[in-house]
Amino acid sequence: MFGFNTIAALAAVATSPAVYAVSSQAYIWKNVKIGGGGGFVPGIVFNPTEKGLAYARTDIGGAYKLNTDDDSWSPLLDFADDARWNYWGVDALATDPVQPARLYLATGMYTNSWDPNNGQILISTDYGKTFTSSQLPFKVGGNMPGRGMGERLAVDPNSNGILFFGARSGKGLWKSTNFGVTWTQVTSFPSTGTYIPDASDTNGYDSDKVGIAWVTFDKASGTSGSATPRIFVGVANKGWSNIFVTTNGGTSWTPVAGQNTTYLPHKGVLSPSEKALYVSYSDGAGPYDGTLGAVYRYDITASTWKDITPVTGEDLYFGFGGVAIDLQKPGTIMVAALNSWWPDGQIFRSTDSGTTWSPFWAWGVYPALNKHYSYSNSLAPWLGPNYVDTTAGNKQIGWMMESLVIDPLDSNHWLYGTGATIQGGRDLLKWDTAHNVSLKSLADGIEETAIQGLISPPSGPSLLSAVGDIGGFVHTSLTTAPKTSFINPTWATSADIDFAGNKPTNIVRIGTGDSTTGKQVALSSDSGATWAQHYGAADNVSGGKVALSADGKTVLWRTGSNGVQVSSNQATFTGVSTLPSSAVIAADKKSDTVFYGASGSSFYLSTDSGQTFSVKGSLDSSQYPVKIVVNPGVTGDVWVSTDKGLFHSTNSGTSFTAIPGVTQAWAIALGAPAKAGGYPALFAAANIGGIGYFRSDDAGVNWVKINDAAHGFGSASANVLTADPRIYGRVYIGTNGRGTFYGDANGSAPPTATATSSATSSAPSSSSTTKTRTSTSTSTSANPTGTAPGGAYSQCGGQGWTGPTTCVTGYTCAYSNPFYSQCIPS
Ligand SMILES: *[C@@H]1O[C@H](CO)[C@@H](O)[C@H](O)[C@H]1NC(C)=O
Ligand SMILES: *[C@@H]1O[C@H](CO)[C@@H](O)[C@H](O)[C@H]1NC(C)=O
Ligand SMILES: *[C@@H]1O[C@H](CO)[C@@H](O)[C@H](O)[C@H]1NC(C)=O
Ligand SMILES: *[C@@H]1O[C@H](CO)[C@@H](O)[C@H](O)[C@H]1NC(C)=O
Repeated sequence: MFGFNTIAALAAVATSPAVYAVSSQAYIWKNVKIGGGGGFVPGIVFNPTEKGLAYARTDIGGAYKLNTDDDSWSPLLDFADDARWNYWGVDALATDPVQPARLYLATGMYTNSWDPNNGQILISTDYGKTFTSSQLPFKVGGNMPGRGMGERLAVDPNSNGILFFGARSGKGLWKSTNFGVTWTQVTSFPSTGTYIPDASDTNGYDSDKVGIAWVTFDKASGTSGSATPRIFVGVANKGWSNIFVTTNGGTSWTPVAGQNTTYLPHKGVLSPSEKALYVSYSDGAGPYDGTLGAVYRYDITASTWKDITPVTGEDLYFGFGGVAIDLQKPGTIMVAALNSWWPDGQIFRSTDSGTTWSPFWAWGVYPALNKHYSYSNSLAPWLGPNYVDTTAGNKQIGWMMESLVIDPLDSNHWLYGTGATIQGGRDLLKWDTAHNVSLKSLADGIEETAIQGLISPPSGPSLLSAVGDIGGFVHTSLTTAPKTSFINPTWATSADIDFAGNKPTNIVRIGTGDSTTGKQVALSSDSGATWAQHYGAADNVSGGKVALSADGKTVLWRTGSNGVQVSSNQATFTGVSTLPSSAVIAADKKSDTVFYGASGSSFYLSTDSGQTFSVKGSLDSSQYPVKIVVNPGVTGDVWVSTDKGLFHSTNSGTSFTAIPGVTQAWAIALGAPAKAGGYPALFAAANIGGIGYFRSDDAGVNWVKINDAAHGFGSASANVLTADPRIYGRVYIGTNGRGTFYGDANGSAPPTATATSSATSSAPSSSSTTKTRTSTSTSTSANPTGTAPGGAYSQCGGQGWTGPTTCVTGYTCAYSNPFYSQCIPS
């Protein structure tokens, strides 16, 4: 994901004394299609043996298998539920060259405290249809810095029961000799990696060691059936040896002589016929950084290194990420600039082992580019001209290009991952003839977004989404990729969205400040087709949650860090001192002047359009209310989910009933009733004898579980829900990394006996962790003053940047993204 983190903020252990009897109903779950991924794809790996077999890994949304017949992708880890949410952070993958049905994934989300769990190697013998898990004694960081380096997990191509895995956090190199089932540390390996992106980062995200970066077997050094003797291992070290080799299968290791240790080695790709190792280097671990780098070719026979960096001098303003070799055409290699933020990403191709290179684009008459490709985003049109892009102009090639691969059995077929999608094509050899290839977005089936808010108004489009990193969408169709994301105003991350109960074409959305656009509130009166900025918002106040009054005139905004504010009729927002800054908020759907709030165990009511709130009822011993939803047809009929369960009031919060059997609840929603005129169907991500997704058709008396073993939806506390007011049974689940799902009941629900509490069953074993989302992109560190201006194309800003923030004459410092600003010609 482009800058997204999930932070484990509060540990809330399930305290259910009893398991509640709940039956299940079969649901059909599908992704709401955006068709273009939407997040960072740090790794793509082809199997060298079985044609067309390839997998992609993501940093927050699991792994996918390529369907070669139609270039689409199928998710492999949708079974990951609340207890296994960290399976969606995939730090490495390996496909077995000997038995191609075997697949291994190294999973775990963070190595700091945000993820309390150790990582695991997920082992499949059926192409990822099913997995078993081998628990590791350390954490794995699928969403940590350096996640595009790799692959740090590899299968011995001569003896496929042997695997090596390079850990982070100083935990070293590990080996399995039984197909990944058990692992032992390779104590003879001389380095665990000392590179730390930012030792001063107190939250631990940037202050951990990136560790071992990649493991590359030299198959030709051995024979089938015996352990491969020669293995290269790249380590995140800077300034001292960072590529090591063994010639005895890992018994002893030495630094590869003559290596240049200036930068971090991101990839080490072996060209067997050439007996050469190609290495890309960048001055940072990635994925956002990299302002210098190199590409080297190591001749294994001669033991010599050659600098084959495609560009030098002013043209070299990036590090290098992806490296691809064409196994059918020895000497044909490609490398990707990890981040050429402006004017676009860059890829180079050589057919002579790196002696000469040709670029994907070159400058024409400034500012024109000669693009050696035609571009199609037909599968995800929103990636095109209307893509959320805070730089001048639109990028087609991409950024964060760590994964670049050529199909080992098809020289024309290539793929690469970017910060937002997978691209590639099927006519790559035309690069060498016409120097012009067809570039396409090829991420169909990958849905890798972090959903922040969902609404399903009773008229107009069925679904609108507030999305991390790519803004959000009006989903006029659930099965067709949207043509555009939210624009004008354009924010990379929309924090929340709401509609007016009595005027449901009126919508409000809020941004998170990660753009140059100051005001972070936008209004639409045409169901999100067009937007206008709310000029009553102060500049740079952003984030949080939003509620729109039933008449659409009042915006109540619990901001990210400026407390609760309110504005009616687009007047300047004013502070609401009577509602705590931690409150969850909601608007009544019928009464124009009524708003609700909850904080701690207190429930608050406003009857004066949010100007003032007063405490009404109490939510028992709740400490953390999560969501308030209001019966769309009845003022004052409200539901509140909290860390202590689910609470219902029919008198505007004066008194609440705790719903029996619900011990924790997160996202909740009300949708179309089972019978016309009946009570709305109630949906909850909750702990009702176990954590899952549930529906009640009788206001919380009886529940059916609606998710199944194949659909876990990851972290329950990170997800958002909305239910369709027009279609009974339909619910939308917005996940933190796997996009939005919609579910419809498959047939009728089983008959439900009146649910009863059973004191005899054992308590659920899984503990769950409440996570609040935060974006790494929200803070920009103070820049020093008095430093010399940056040179042409040099970095001049970004999170953590401490260098120059001005540019030499003729250049201006252009904001590119929260992590990078660059000196470009003025
Ligand atoms: C839906 O129900 C039908 C009939 O019972 C069954 O054949 C089908 O497999 C079900 N689909 C899903 C996705 O559960
Ligand atoms: C090592 O790489 C750096 C950066 O590319 C370069 O400046 C330096 O000359 C190289 N050192 C040697 C010994 O080649
Ligand atoms: C490559 O082909 C496309 C599509 O025909 C064309 O628009 C583009 O100008 C070509 N690029 C070059 C450098 O000729
Ligand atoms: C808002 O943030 C931008 C970018 O950091 C800054 O240039 C501007 O001065 C800020 N505006 C206010 C009113 O603080």
